[in-house]
Amino acid sequence: MKGSREFSSLFWRLDLEKGEIEGGITVQRRLSDLRGCFADASAYAVALAQGDPVIYTVSTVEPARGPGQLHGALGIIMPGRVGAEYYLTRGHLHAWRPAAEVYLGLRGQGVMLLEDEVTGESEMVPLLPHSAIYVPGCTAHRTINTGDEPLVYLGIYPAEAGHDYEAIAKRNFRQVVVAVNGKPTLLDRAAFLATLGDNR
Ligand code: F6R
Ligand code: MN
Repeated sequence: MKGSREFSSLFWRLDLEKGEIEGGITVQRRLSDLRGCFADASAYAVALAQGDPVIYTVSTVEPARGPGQLHGALGIIMPGRVGAEYYLTRGHLHAWRPAAEVYLGLRGQGVMLLEDEVTGESEMVPLLPHSAIYVPGCTAHRTINTGDEPLVYLGIYPAEAGHDYEAIAKRNFRQVVVAVNGKPTLLDRAAFLATLGDNR
């Protein structure tokens, strides 16, 4: 068992301020990395003209590779919005489609947008401290900060899951989570875009 470990990471120290796992590999995603993720392209262009803030970072630990092993990632998403859409992650399916994942809410208030790849059905599930979300296999998932402080969460997934960003990048999620009268609301993307047309 010991031999299959690549480094000693049986104990994960989570820094909920920085959003980092000690010894993990951290990547930053800026607004410019999220082209095509927000439905409202005009609001995205306006926001980008004003600056290119870090929207989220992900710190990953991979204690071991191979069948049956697990990897972990601590995410921190800043609070903010592009137009009516809350700051979000790119979102992905797992390259190995049957791979499920568990998300634990650690700090802040958010939701996950889950979209079944086969049926196309969407669900908005609260991501909060003292709670967990089970993301089934074959389900596209995106994490969204609907609060006014950083959203911090831990995802645990099979070492073999991998990430498929392309499938979602091509068509984006069918639904959006937007602020309606200050409340996170799940709307059909086309219906949301139609409301923008009316107001511009
Ligand atoms: C891993 C996982 C999370 C995300 C993280 C960032 O399978 O779901 O660790 O990778 O929330 O989101 P993406 O990867 O969509 O940029
Ligand atoms: Mn995942």
